[in-house]
Amino acid sequence: MASKEKIAHTMEFPPPTPQPNVYPLSWENKTNKLQEVWEASQREYWDPEKLPWDTFNVEKYTWEQRESIAYWWTILSVFDASAPPVFAAAFIKTYEVHEEDVVRRCFFSVTRDEQNHEQMCGMAITKLLEHPDPLTYVPKTDIGLRLQKNAKWLYYNGGRYWDGFKTAVPKYSLAVLFSSFLMGEMAAATIFHQMAASCNELVFKEGFAKIGKDEGRHMAIVLTLMERDYPALAQEDKEVITKQIRAGYLFLSAVLFEPPEEFWDLPSDFIANQREGEKFAREAGFAIPEYETKKENWKKAMLNLKGVLAKYNTDFPAIPEVGITGKEISDVDLDDIIPVF
Ligand SMILES: [Fe+2]
Ligand SMILES: [Fe+2]
Repeated sequence: MASKEKIAHTMEFPPPTPQPNVYPLSWENKTNKLQEVWEASQREYWDPEKLPWDTFNVEKYTWEQRESIAYWWTILSVFDASAPPVFAAAFIKTYEVHEEDVVRRCFFSVTRDEQNHEQMCGMAITKLLEHPDPLTYVPKTDIGLRLQKNAKWLYYNGGRYWDGFKTAVPKYSLAVLFSSFLMGEMAAATIFHQMAASCNELVFKEGFAKIGKDEGRHMAIVLTLMERDYPALAQEDKEVITKQIRAGYLFLSAVLFEPPEEFWDLPSDFIANQREGEKFAREAGFAIPEYETKKENWKKAMLNLKGVLAKYNTDFPAIPEVGITGKEISDVDLDDIIPVF
């Protein structure tokens, strides 16, 4: 039927609207636990611009240190700058599938928080480099030059994943997407609490503490929804989830640990350059964890996740890199993953 054809004069009530229709005219709430998380998100909302930036004197650092710290924020941005559109897409999906009102609000809060995290990355980088873009910045030191090459490769790799995510969102249920979100949130909460505890620079300490708190709420949202949906999960969904966890491990290792070769397409001097940059940053009081600590933390986060999935009889993938046994997953490609940060 042509949409312009008027029908209102031919019947008393309109025909049913084809579903899924993007707007639910309904504000039903069943998952009451989420109301508390939503209220916390309103209470804990913060503005990156209002952090104590005036106490941050970049001049007390050498250019090697500035470029190395900015590089860390750049790695984080490869993940955090994609979080706003990724969660915005999931937020739209909560409307399309007519999720509960409180679920829609929670996803709105995550999208808003992630935008803050992205702003924070931008402000830190811009201050440190006196330039708003780490890829077009002209490095001043040899390590800065090599780290920029690293950044370009990370950016290239990260750029391959948006198309995959866009196809995944309509294809999978929110329940399947949650496992990937949880993976990212767990990783994020781990790293930010740690950075907040050991960084010297006040503006970073405060920023990390706030971001860590946000990530904790994101984790609570996902865990609550898993509790609601996972007991009734289909076997085929469980298989997708197991694969996604392995993909998420490989993807997020670039920021939480070190990027695995089988997944990331990177030059052979990448790791050496990154480790050298980390040394400069640590010297400056920017507490990037050492290799063994990173590995321990990442393992702990994976074991937590394994514990969660075991409750719902969902296989966990083998992660030999950190000594976790499980189901062997081999054919993982950037094009079909949905992890987010
Ligand atoms: Fe985040
Ligand atoms: Fe998050």
